[in-house]
Amino acid sequence: MPAFGMLGVARFKAQLHTRETTPVKPYLTADGSYTFFSDTFGESFHSYSGARQEALGKFVAPTRLTDCATQASSLCLLDVCYGLGYNTAAALEMIWQVNPSCHVLVWALELEAAVPLAAVAQGWLSSWPQSIETPLATLAATHQVQTPTLEAHLILGDARQTLSALVNQGIQAQGIFLDPFSPPRCPQLWTVEFFQLLRRCLAPQGRLATYSCAAAVRAGLIEAGFWVTESPPVGRRSPGTVAALTQSEVLPLSLQAQEHLQTRAAVPYRDATGQDAAAEIVQRRQQEQQNSPLASTQAWKKRWLGNSSASPST
Ligand SMILES: C[S@@+](CC[C@H](N)C(=O)[O-])C[C@H]1O[C@@H](n2cnc3c(N)ncnc32)[C@H](O)[C@@H]1O
Repeated sequence: MPAFGMLGVARFKAQLHTRETTPVKPYLTADGSYTFFSDTFGESFHSYSGARQEALGKFVAPTRLTDCATQASSLCLLDVCYGLGYNTAAALEMIWQVNPSCHVLVWALELEAAVPLAAVAQGWLSSWPQSIETPLATLAATHQVQTPTLEAHLILGDARQTLSALVNQGIQAQGIFLDPFSPPRCPQLWTVEFFQLLRRCLAPQGRLATYSCAAAVRAGLIEAGFWVTESPPVGRRSPGTVAALTQSEVLPLSLQAQEHLQTRAAVPYRDATGQDAAAEIVQRRQQEQQNSPLASTQAWKKRWLGNSSASPST
């Protein structure tokens, strides 16, 4: 059961129901940091092993933003599914540790304005330095912030549409954090078409990081023109994924992961119009899997996991 600590669920509901929005509940993760659980998506916003740990280990470290910050006076971040803002907060902390004067431009995409506001209201960003908490509180409240070292924009709406607008602005991010709810729950943001938009926003030497190691996600990224590799596991056995535009930026996938891509689990999600509902996207993929010449995933599971019920993806 979730541990709510000193936090009152009713208090959150009161805040989050001031407008039509997703009901969420607070959840204490194993590293002592809080996250939300979404009733609508049926999932936690972060891994139970640690929300802060996840931000750093699955997003900031794999994008190698600190390497970038040591060599550049400015950089650009695209945070897809900003949520509580932990990924951006962790990135700013690491960037300014190595280069305090680095100017960071953040584009943060999020559906629900109430989520970052609620995280700020509960003081959850106060575990980062005030130089980060204060501007991110302003960002949650006014959707933009400007300081001598930070320009940030919180763009509200379905990321499929808001990202299209950013592509037209020609943004080039050194780091992209891709952090939607899981592919079966939020397939809209794991499609080949969405990845193609992300590819256009990535700087030539930039890196995209996501927590997912699903074959459908990796195959979709490859089809969209990325090179992919594993990022180290954080708080669980499965690795995440890093994607880049050039092969030299990434190590080859493990044999296990390469063979996973030869199975029907690697049929990607598709959404040609960028408008389809989650159920339609899931159903379209199931149909493509049924007609696919790719091998069933069962043999792969037996070979690598020794247990057909323990697959990371189907
Ligand atoms: C897994 S949480 C992200 C956690 C976040 N990165 C953080 O550090 O707190 C997923 C987020 O995606 C948002 N979301 C869901 N569907 C979306 C959509 N179609 N477009 C943009 N954001 C979406 C949810 O409101 C939620 O905040």
